Amino acid sequence: MKLEVVRTSNLKAKPQDETKLGFGRLFTDYMFTMQFEQGKGWYDAKIRPFENFSLSPACSVLHYSQTIFEGLKAYHTEAGMNLFRPWDNFRRMNISAKRMCMPEVDEEFVLQSLDELLKIEKDWVPKTPGTSLYIRPTMMAVDPFLGVSAGKNYLFYIILSPVGAYYESGLEPVDIYVEDEYVRAVDGGTGFAKAGGNYAASLLAGEIAHKKGFAQVLWLDGKEKKYVQEVGSMNIFFKIRGELVTAPLAGSILPGITRDSVITLSRDVFGTPVREENIAIADVFEQNASGGLEEVFGTGTAAVISPVGGMTWKDKDIVVADGSMGELTRKLYNTLTGMQYGVVKDDFGWIKTL
Ligand code: COI
Repeated sequence: MKLEVVRTSNLKAKPQDETKLGFGRLFTDYMFTMQFEQGKGWYDAKIRPFENFSLSPACSVLHYSQTIFEGLKAYHTEAGMNLFRPWDNFRRMNISAKRMCMPEVDEEFVLQSLDELLKIEKDWVPKTPGTSLYIRPTMMAVDPFLGVSAGKNYLFYIILSPVGAYYESGLEPVDIYVEDEYVRAVDGGTGFAKAGGNYAASLLAGEIAHKKGFAQVLWLDGKEKKYVQEVGSMNIFFKIRGELVTAPLAGSILPGITRDSVITLSRDVFGTPVREENIAIADVFEQNASGGLEEVFGTGTAAVISPVGGMTWKDKDIVVADGSMGELTRKLYNTLTGMQYGVVKDDFGWIKTL
């Protein structure tokens, strides 16, 4: 497929103060779009000015949420910019697409198109430490049809947003609320897919937790509400008596790329064993009581590695260790972000330099 580039001279002013970017509020001058029609395949691939879409009010995504997305980042480096495992995002997007009855994309083509978009938008990659250019690939069904069936027409696009930390508290440890009533995903559901509806379903519990003063919700399994799954926008790790424990990829949690990288770094670089096993929230709290819970942190593209300082489950509150960022959490954070910003050597082939 040919990639057309439509230029504009109407460029926006770049953000003045990169320490105040926040997350996902500002967007760059251009986006990538392509369309799909059953029987024809993907067509009309373009880099074009960022603008609103025109969609029918009957458009199926607006009613039945047939939409998936990805999240990755471009990091400013002395030599230009780095991407972190971008091929894994498009591979995962195709896995999400299958689950949601959506067409797969040509991973090579979208990666090349992203490179072109980033080359045009290179001046939008912020330079202040801790900032990056967040990349949001999205696909949605656009058929103007109210019947409940898989769409025949799709829109795929990539938009870019200069961002700072996902949490307002930055790298300060966050307090999380263990959700005991609502669940995020069940076996056989869509938990492993990056489907928009998963996030819509999580909002009510998130709002309740926010009102109680918590940054995020920690989800338990959908059957027994016993085993730890993941946090709103991150996978979660517990360091217990010298070992890391995180939920296994058994269909209901998101297969995080940062999760996978942290498992490799812990095992291969820091010599900390990792168990991908179900862990009951009661065990986590018991380990904390007996002094075995050493560190808790979340991982995600947006959240990077975020220390968890406290947890509340039912009527029990705990402070993790002394509530500050743990030593392994810090080492993982420094190594991962060091590779991303090009100051720590990448021995794993994770970095793509543009
Ligand atoms: C990401 O980490 O990129 C995500 O997709 C989380 C997002 C829902 C903010």
